[in-house]
Amino acid sequence: MSRIFSRIAGTGSYLPARVMTNAELAQRLDTSDQWIEERTGIRQRHIAEQSQASSELALAASRRAIEASGLQAQAIDLIIVATSTPDYVFPSTACLLQAKLGIANCPAFDVQAVCSGFVYGLATADNFIRAGAAKHALVVGAEVFSRILDWNDRGTCVLFGDGAGAVVLSACDRPGIHASVLRADGRHAGILSVPGNLCGGKIVGSPFLQMQGNQVFKLAVKVLDEVAHEVLAAAGMQVAEVDWLIPHQANVRIMEATAKKLGLPRDKLVVTVDRHGNTSAASVPLALDESVRAGKIRPGQRVMLQGVGGGFTWGATLVTM
Ligand code: ACO
Repeated sequence: MSRIFSRIAGTGSYLPARVMTNAELAQRLDTSDQWIEERTGIRQRHIAEQSQASSELALAASRRAIEASGLQAQAIDLIIVATSTPDYVFPSTACLLQAKLGIANCPAFDVQAVCSGFVYGLATADNFIRAGAAKHALVVGAEVFSRILDWNDRGTCVLFGDGAGAVVLSACDRPGIHASVLRADGRHAGILSVPGNLCGGKIVGSPFLQMQGNQVFKLAVKVLDEVAHEVLAAAGMQVAEVDWLIPHQANVRIMEATAKKLGLPRDKLVVTVDRHGNTSAASVPLALDESVRAGKIRPGQRVMLQGVGGGFTWGATLVTM
């Protein structure tokens, strides 16, 4: 009996036009270009217009991914959007995106795993396809983190940016996705959170991102190393078989530490955090699309995608392009 796998058939991304440099932040905050770049590797980030919600960013990225796949939008039979900055409490951003794409009837839902959201969404879509429940899934990471930042808090606001990335994942008789490993540990919920909600027409708690930066840093380096080995073992592969590592783009020091622990040369590490900042669930598909379009990541090459973020959540996927 032939087995069903899933394969990335197309990638797309979108960055809002407005660029905010470190120098601009330093004009109104007690910070400097040098501090931000030395500690994080970030030089600039993109910021969405007030009129641009996550579904708008997702739409632009999705159109590019669908075009790259050579499919018509009508062929999409599953939509998963990873976001922590949805347009509304409900309906889901995935349903809003579905309508904007002019598609009806296929399942559409959001995944909430913060910066691991895209890897969670990709693994979910892969399972739908392997089970025969979908043939062409659209998986999107889309965020407007600029809306949940306290722009007076230099410890957090310098780190994040807005953007979206998308892939079309199609059924195929060969992998594609070799293996995925997803993990979470809710005991660490407090080190990275937006601890607010809506109640009786008011915001209860805080609507702004809060973070214990050094604790997040240590945990991220630990779990990204662990999950890299877990996903390699699940796929029956060696580190030497990995052509590219795309970790969640939060901080270049975390990413370099991960590559070093794994024994991967620095030139196999894909870095976009310098120009995008941390775009949460959008960071991995944005980096993937940029590398594919630049001709850096080529068909047949093997890529390890890694997410890590609030929850605490983390995960990894091994994929042949
Ligand atoms: N400019 C200048 N100084 C600053 C800034 C800033 N933007 N931010 C903090 N500082 C100061 C602090 O106040 C502190 O000053 P003090 O020593 O007088 O108290 C000093 O710099 C050192 O602060 P630390 O927090 O110890 O600095 P650290 O080297 O840990 O770097 C950072 C901070 C960059 C946030 C780092 O901890 C980090 O990257 N952590 C991981 C963050 C991350 O990846 N978050 C996203 C996870 S993904 C998700 O799910 C959203």
